[in-house]
Amino acid sequence: MRMLLFSGKGGVGKSSLAAATGVKLSRMGYRTLVMSVDPAHSLADAFDLDIDLFGAQTADPYPVGEKLWIHEVNIQREIRRHWQEISAYVISVLRTTGISEVEAEELAILPGMEELSAMMYVNQFRREERFDVIVLDCAPTAESMRFVSMPTTLDWYMKHIFSFQRSLLKAVRPIANRVAPIELPTDTYFANIQRLFERLEGVDQLLEDPQTTSVRLVTNPEKMVLRETQRAFVYFSLHGLTVDTVIVNRVLPAEVSDPFFAEWRQSQRKILDEIHEYFAPVPVRETPLFTHEVMGRQRLEELAEALYREGENPAAIVREERPYSFAKQDGGYSIRLQLPFATKGEIGLFKKDDELVVEVGSVRRHIGLPTSMASMQPVHARLENKILTVEMKDVLLKG
Ligand SMILES: Nc1ncnc2c1ncn2[C@@H]1O[C@H](COP(=O)(O)OP(=O)(O)O)[C@@H](O)[C@H]1O
Ligand SMILES: [Mg+2]
Repeated sequence: MRMLLFSGKGGVGKSSLAAATGVKLSRMGYRTLVMSVDPAHSLADAFDLDIDLFGAQTADPYPVGEKLWIHEVNIQREIRRHWQEISAYVISVLRTTGISEVEAEELAILPGMEELSAMMYVNQFRREERFDVIVLDCAPTAESMRFVSMPTTLDWYMKHIFSFQRSLLKAVRPIANRVAPIELPTDTYFANIQRLFERLEGVDQLLEDPQTTSVRLVTNPEKMVLRETQRAFVYFSLHGLTVDTVIVNRVLPAEVSDPFFAEWRQSQRKILDEIHEYFAPVPVRETPLFTHEVMGRQRLEELAEALYREGENPAAIVREERPYSFAKQDGGYSIRLQLPFATKGEIGLFKKDDELVVEVGSVRRHIGLPTSMASMQPVHARLENKILTVEMKDVLLKG
C-alpha cells in the first residue's frame, strides 16, 4: 500500500490536488481512497457531491467513481466509535468546574483526536488490504505536524506515564474517591486507552517508510505561504517523513497578458526561483491558476493533467532519502545531509537566521532549523561516504 500526504497552508489547494491525484490513480486501475483529515472538509465539494446525501453515508468510504472512494473523518462520529470513555471522563471533570454540558462536550474534543482517528483508519485499511493507495488530504500545516508526531507522543505517554499513573491510581483510588474534588478515571478508561493504542500500532513505521509514505507539500507562489511551507518541510524531516515533491499551485499562466497582473507575474517568478533553490534537490512542480474553481470530475481531470505527465504514475516513489535528518547527540544535535556530488575541499557552511546554509561549489542547500536548534551554531562538520554530518551546539558567549 502507498500513502500520499498532501499538506500545506489552508486554501492553497490541498483538497483539489489530493482529489485530482485520486482521480488519476483510480483511472490507472489502483483502488484509491482519498481521505480528508482537515476539519474544514472540502472533498465532497471537490467531487461536487450532494452534501446532505453524502453526510448521511460517510460512516464508510464512499464510492465516487470506479476504484475511487472518499472518506471525511467526522469527529463526532469518531468520538462515539473510539473516544466515548475518554471524552466522558473529560466531560465529567470539566463539569465540576461549573461549565455547561454543551461547553464541556465541545471542550472534550481533544487536540489530535481527528488525526489519531484517521490513523486508526489507515491501519485498519492496511490490514484489510482494501486499497492500493490512500491519498491523505491533511489539515493545515500545524495540525498535520500534530498528526505525524502523534505516534511518538503516544508511545512516550504509554511507556512513561501510563503504567505509572495506573498503578498509582490503584493505590490511591479508595481514599481519593472520598476526598478528591474530581472523579478519578475508572479502569475501563485505561483499558480504552490501551485499545486505542493497539489500533495505532505500526502506524509510525508506516509514516516513516519512504516506500509507503511520501509527503507532497502544496504551496502558492506567495511569500507568506512559502514561509509556512519551509517550516512544514523542516518538521516533516524532523519527524522522519520524506517530502518527495513540492507543488506550487495557482501559478499565473503565460497567456495572461493584462497589465494588471504584471506585478503579480514578476513577484511569482521571483518566489518560484526561490522555491526551486530552497527545496533542491526535492523536485518542484507547478500547476496553473485556472479560470474557475476546481469542482467536479471534469475539473479534477484537468488539474490532474496539469500536475502529471501522460502515463505518469502519481504513486511512484520519487525520492527515498530525506534530504536531511536530525539526531540528538550529547547536549546538541547532529544534522545528516546527503551530498552525493561533494568533495571535501569545496564545502562551505554558514548560519542565516533559522537556517543552516551549505554551499558545495555553486550549489546551495538550505536546512531550516527547528525552534529547538535555531539558537545553535555549527561546531563541527565531517564528510564521510557522501554524507555530511554537522554538529550543532549552543555556543555560550562569555564575558
Ligand atoms: N489551480 C487552481 N485554480 C483555480 N482555483 C483553484 C485552484 N486550486 C484550487 N482552487 C480553488 O481554491 C479553493 C481552495 O482550494 P482547496 O483545494 O479547497 O484548498 P485547501 O484544501 O488547501 O484548503 C477551492 O475553491 C478550489 O476549487
Ligand atoms: Mg481542504
